[in-house]
Amino acid sequence: MILSRRIRATETPPIPAARAWAARYDGRAGPALDLTQAVPGYPPPPELLARLAEASGSADSAGYGPIAGDMALREALATDVSAFYGAAIPPAAVAISAGCNLAFAMAMQVLAAEDDAVLLPTPWYFNHRMALTMQGVRAIPVPTRPEDGFVPDPEQIAALIAEHRPRAVVLVTPNNPTGAIYPAEVIHAVADLCRKAGCFLVLDETYRDFLPTDRVPPHNLLADPDWGDVLVHLYSFSKAYCVPGHRAGAIAAGPEVMAELEKAFDTFQICPPRPVQVALAWAIPALGAWRDGNRAMMAGRAAFFRDAVAQLPGWRLDAIGTYFAYLRVPEAAPDAMRTAEILAAEQGLMTLPGPFFGPGQDRHIRLAFANAGEAVLGQVPGRLAAFS
Ligand SMILES: Cc1ncc(COP(=O)(O)O)c(C=O)c1O
Repeated sequence: MILSRRIRATETPPIPAARAWAARYDGRAGPALDLTQAVPGYPPPPELLARLAEASGSADSAGYGPIAGDMALREALATDVSAFYGAAIPPAAVAISAGCNLAFAMAMQVLAAEDDAVLLPTPWYFNHRMALTMQGVRAIPVPTRPEDGFVPDPEQIAALIAEHRPRAVVLVTPNNPTGAIYPAEVIHAVADLCRKAGCFLVLDETYRDFLPTDRVPPHNLLADPDWGDVLVHLYSFSKAYCVPGHRAGAIAAGPEVMAELEKAFDTFQICPPRPVQVALAWAIPALGAWRDGNRAMMAGRAAFFRDAVAQLPGWRLDAIGTYFAYLRVPEAAPDAMRTAEILAAEQGLMTLPGPFFGPGQDRHIRLAFANAGEAVLGQVPGRLAAFS
């Protein structure tokens, strides 16, 4: 069958593939534990669910809305972003998308065309790479190393910019899959490089609500009045508000990029889902304390998981933060693909192997510990011990 060569070249979705291994699990080690997907392991608060229900039942929410999102939500998000980053971001600079994945894909429609290059640090978020491949854009890997905490090196990025003349550099911080939090100096240095090279920094801060503190901004880029010339900023409501199924994300960009984005918004989504926008416009200011509580809970889970894995011979916790742990498999174990398959099929522990996150990841697996409470996380070392 003749189908698009770009879609043929795009990787198969990794999460169902990893879950499929667990179909062979016979329950011998206890209940199956699914740490594949980055979803919050707790429900949205009842007040948010009630608002979602009410908005879903309204005739107004059944109709199309503004292309770039409802103004009430854009205003609420602009206020929140401005407070978080110590900036003054107008509602016109933020737009709502049907999830952050779509925000990335639409941003790339504006920034890059077929055969253009985009720098993507590895391990990368697989959907970023998939979106680029689908669009015919070349993803140039920027390898990061465990000994640097998986933080990219701006000098290496400078060299790759000179070599490939990319249209954008993508940074994800806090990172998926490693959990690494990039220091502000690194983010600033990459933004400076992009500005000098005339390309864009696409900064995905889906996990920003789970940084250890919201008192110190993770960078000062948005406080620069000219930020829109170099930065396209991405955000997701999925994790912070526990609404991944409702599909809500956001882009912040300068006026020139935003004007072009409107074409992609109109074509790809017409408008973002309506009911969730009503609920989120309320939730952003109203649920600050709840979000703080979740930030503390995730930090607690990370600490618990770190302690539990520290006891395990052979395994090395190379990085951990916000939602994810990135573990190096023991020397004696097979490669990460096979190790993840055995963990799922024989130990009932579903993880994602490093090769799903790009080249050079053959000895690592990702565990999305955010999914699970301590009762589940406490069972993980026992399952990993099969390889110790
Ligand atoms: C870095 C990153 N960006 C975007 C997304 C997708 O977010 P959304 O559900 O808003 O599309 C995820 C989800 O795992 C992610 O890890």
